[in-house]
Amino acid sequence: MSHMSTPRDFSDKDAAYRGLARELGALLEGEHDPIANAANAAALIFDALPGINWAGFYFLKGRELVVGPFQGKPACVRIALGRGACGAAAARRQTLVVDDVHSFPGHIVCDPASRSEIVVPLVDGARLLGVLDIDSPRVGRFDAADARGLEALAARLLPALARLPDARPE
Ligand code: SME
Repeated sequence: MSHMSTPRDFSDKDAAYRGLARELGALLEGEHDPIANAANAAALIFDALPGINWAGFYFLKGRELVVGPFQGKPACVRIALGRGACGAAAARRQTLVVDDVHSFPGHIVCDPASRSEIVVPLVDGARLLGVLDIDSPRVGRFDAADARGLEALAARLLPALARLPDARPE
């Protein structure tokens, strides 16, 4: 299967995310390898969303989030649950929108260009698999429509990540 990068119109974010969810569904179809699916999802999101500089995954291993497939600059590898934006969203199991990372206590700097961030937890029933994290060099880049759209993408992705090994201490 091939994926063509096409300019997307995000003036109607809900519609754009619906289109993206369809594209993600097509990308995941027939493939059950979780790393392959996470890698393609990160690439699709990074390619599609305007004004972002990092998109990818952290997966829960024991009490830490460990970086998974992503697009963007090299990132910090391990984040303790509760630390930074990723750890906070994971611990609360709630999407977190950070308008200005400079005023978020405990924010972990990976790419100094990042100014705003959205973190969507990946929760499968009672099991926390990890988070989807997206950064932007623009303050206030993410809003409620991004949260809705990315939560829908995460929900579509969950079955494709279901074969991740169980989180356990390493
Ligand atoms: N800023 C994140 C760390 C991950 S990077 O942005 C890729 C945080 O505070 O958790």
